Amino acid sequence: MTDAYAIFGHPVAHSKSPYIHRQFAEQVGEDMSYTKQLVPEGGFDAAADAFFAAGGKGLNVTLPFKIDAYTYAARLTQRARRAGAVNTLAMQSDGTVLGDNTDGIGMINDMHNLGWPIAEQRVLLLGAGGAVRGVLQPLMEQNPAQVAIANRTFHKAEQLAKGFHDLGDIQALTFEQLERRQFDLVINGTSASLGGDMLPLPDGLLAPGASCYDMMYGAEPTVFLQWAERQSAQRLADGLGMLVCQAAESFYLWRSVRPEVVPVVSALRRAMTKKTS
Ligand code: ATR
Repeated sequence: MTDAYAIFGHPVAHSKSPYIHRQFAEQVGEDMSYTKQLVPEGGFDAAADAFFAAGGKGLNVTLPFKIDAYTYAARLTQRARRAGAVNTLAMQSDGTVLGDNTDGIGMINDMHNLGWPIAEQRVLLLGAGGAVRGVLQPLMEQNPAQVAIANRTFHKAEQLAKGFHDLGDIQALTFEQLERRQFDLVINGTSASLGGDMLPLPDGLLAPGASCYDMMYGAEPTVFLQWAERQSAQRLADGLGMLVCQAAESFYLWRSVRPEVVPVVSALRRAMTKKTS
């Protein structure tokens, strides 16, 4: 029987995960199906129970269910526990469901694929919501020289810095406190790009040779990446690679095979830019 996988979300119609996982399955010759399922709000547990009862092997979980998936999982990986959210569920051979979070490692793997340095770099994270929380542990494991979190609502940055203090020193900052500071790697984990809003970032924030990464992506460069280009960042990337790399990590958890991400990122990029041209 073909092993069944799915993504649960609300909305979910826009999801690129079915395309990505079908490409992976084809690449490595795995017999699996991958569908998307629109789950009603408040209906996560019932939908997941039904999926697994019907023999489903694994789920990806997107907004707004990442916390529901966290509570649903019988066991959690360490990185999911630290992220406080789950984007991947896997049925185990003993009949229990394992919860993982592959978003953070997805971003790190994408940076590795791009050849970006992280170790010994001064890193600034913008935002203090779920997206930033999800990448903190994998980021700290890369041994950056410094990590700072700047957020519009300062106390949320402070809470995150305290919550991850055991992994290394993390500074919480307001946007005003970014004046006269310099960073080698700046990562936008706010949702400001979604509304086309620019964050109040000072000129001179980027050290010479700096890299700028936006966890969001789109057919056009995000406003943050446009700003980074004007500030002469040496390297720029949006979150399309992160999306494919988090999927690859989920795929690995389910199938114990690592698919190639680069051809899938390229195909998605081509399809995205074609639509707007
Ligand atoms: P997610 O789970 O995607 O991280 P979230 O928890 O709602 O979503 O967090 C969104 C982040 O984007 C927050 O850090 C938010 O700042 P606040 O904590 O001050 O709300 C940030 N954000 C969203 N829109 C923003 C904007 N226009 N300017 C600055 N920060 C913004």
